[in-house]
Amino acid sequence: MPEDSGKEFTMVTCSAPVNIAVIKYCEYRMFLKTTTTVACSRSFQEDRIWLNGKEEDITQPRLQSCLREIRCLARKRRSDGEADVDTAGLSHKVHICSVNNFPTAAGLASSAAGYACLVYTLSRVMGVEGELSVVSRQGSGSACRSMYGGFVQWIMGQQGDGKDSLSQQVEPETHWPELRVLVLVVSAERKPVGSTSGMQTSVETSILLKHRADSVVPARMKEMIEAVHKRDFTAFAELTMKDSNQFHATCLDTYPPIFYLNDVSRRVINLVHRYNRHYRETKVAYTFDAGPNAVIYTLQQNVEEFVQVVKHFFPPETNGGQFLKGLPVAPTTLSEEL
Ligand code: ADP
Ligand code: CO
Repeated sequence: MPEDSGKEFTMVTCSAPVNIAVIKYCEYRMFLKTTTTVACSRSFQEDRIWLNGKEEDITQPRLQSCLREIRCLARKRRSDGEADVDTAGLSHKVHICSVNNFPTAAGLASSAAGYACLVYTLSRVMGVEGELSVVSRQGSGSACRSMYGGFVQWIMGQQGDGKDSLSQQVEPETHWPELRVLVLVVSAERKPVGSTSGMQTSVETSILLKHRADSVVPARMKEMIEAVHKRDFTAFAELTMKDSNQFHATCLDTYPPIFYLNDVSRRVINLVHRYNRHYRETKVAYTFDAGPNAVIYTLQQNVEEFVQVVKHFFPPETNGGQFLKGLPVAPTTLSEEL
């Protein structure tokens, strides 16, 4: 809640979870999160942003769009005579300070959590309510999904430019409490190609992507929603893996090709398939976004064993992260030299 100190200085802190697409571009809320504080004061000369302690360029178009849209909504509400619009938030400049408790720009959807959190926090500061997922989409396509918990579906708008697309909750987080997510951090480095520009090139050059968008994704979305409704892990897992693989196939089909997976990622894929084959049952699934880091889905009863298997094949670096049972509070580092 905005703390009102005579409208001279307002400060709000919020946090948002990351989300991972199981049908690439419905998701699961995770313990990787962004915490954002927005302060506004008469004494601030300009809008500024710090990300993980380092000042970033506030003039980035995606940031500017979010700021502009929120201020526009606030102005509209003020002219409509809404009493709770914070006029200080509207007339003063803002200082934004945001921290991700996980690697930024490494394929773990920092952009999604980041912009979801930013837009929400700004909306609290400025006293704006309403359809914020549309605004957060200005920052990152997947941000609109981080505005809700549980399983969320991203619904394409009619305009074609995606600007009117929004997100809708398919099931709340309480729907499938046994489902667990593990994040295997293969590399915490910033990826060479940002997901937005990569996606752009794919749209322009990949024939496979076109086929995927026209016929594969719509059918898979239906199957995925049904699998989630029925809590059918096998169906959920197989769809998730096949979709991740096809997404990375479209990256290879992009010209020039985009490589997000590395050798360690591919070894994680093989390990999951060997594990499932051993049990003649699909107990574990992987998905990779635009980066080499693996997001693993499994049911609670399998977590401990699978973590042991991963530790056996990928011993954690001495000072690396640690697995916490069942939920990835701290990301784990897989050593590369294996
Ligand atoms: P990722 O796979 O982590 O989403 P992207 O290249 O898609 O990588 O997005 C990374 C960019 O998103 C960052 O360079 C930054 O501009 C933006 N971003 C990440 N975290 C935040 C945050 N907490 N607040 C605002 N913007 C953020
Ligand atoms: Co991103």
